[in-house]
Amino acid sequence: MTDTVQEASVSQAFEITPLSDLMAAEVTGLDLSQPFDTVTQAAVNRAFLEYQLLVFRNQSLTKDQQVGFTEQFGTLERHTARNRGVGTHPLVHIVSNLTAEGTPSGTVNSTQWHSDKSFRPAPSMATVLHAVTLPPDGGDTCFANMYAAYAGLADAEKTELEGVRVIHSWELSRENIGRVLSEEEKRDAPPMTHPLIRVHPETGRKGFFMGMHASHLEGMPRDKGRARIEALEAHATQPQFVYRHHWRDGDVLMWDNRCLLHHADPNFDAARHPRVLHRTCLRGTPTA
Ligand SMILES: [Fe+2]
Repeated sequence: MTDTVQEASVSQAFEITPLSDLMAAEVTGLDLSQPFDTVTQAAVNRAFLEYQLLVFRNQSLTKDQQVGFTEQFGTLERHTARNRGVGTHPLVHIVSNLTAEGTPSGTVNSTQWHSDKSFRPAPSMATVLHAVTLPPDGGDTCFANMYAAYAGLADAEKTELEGVRVIHSWELSRENIGRVLSEEEKRDAPPMTHPLIRVHPETGRKGFFMGMHASHLEGMPRDKGRARIEALEAHATQPQFVYRHHWRDGDVLMWDNRCLLHHADPNFDAARHPRVLHRTCLRGTPTA
């Protein structure tokens, strides 16, 4: 079903078409390089909360335009101490498989399920990712819906997990992929606890809040808590909770980190083909 949003003060009608029964909607007919009027901004924001992931087609944004689009929905967030973006656009993070010399490295980052910056006291609200250079095929981004995963849990387990808190650690999640943080990086991102079951601050809906930065459970032996998180993540990322995005040239994605996990799928020849995207993030609010 396609909804056509056309209200009196919207200069440009646009269409919202769901991409799956679970989440995600395609938005066509909007030019993101131009500022929205208030009615359009409100309609897009409503769709964002309803579908959790919006896919804007056929865009071509400069970094300034991407920053301008993003900040219509909140406050832009800086990145980690190691990756501050480049040059005159420190708030635009370059997601890429290229070496410093600009050749494909064979390595794809962020291939494990996560919620961006879940290790921050106020984790990221939303991420905007714009395709700049895509491989001929693959390089998908997958999304798991934590509302649906929580709803799919047995009532007894929901009750048992109520009030449980999780330690999110950038340091430990980097160790898990073989990188040791510098002292500056550790100071920049100390471990943080968040509720395992998070109430979305805008929709009021409950969902899991975890991912690769979620290390273990507060008040439980580390190994036991770790195993529990891994079991819950295995439940939460089953195919029925996942939408796979096949990128098209010109796509801009905007997703809600408060209720989705995501990861890059290295399903392309990363030693041969470039994959470059521009990322901006919006600052969220504390989880409790
Ligand atoms: Fe990410």
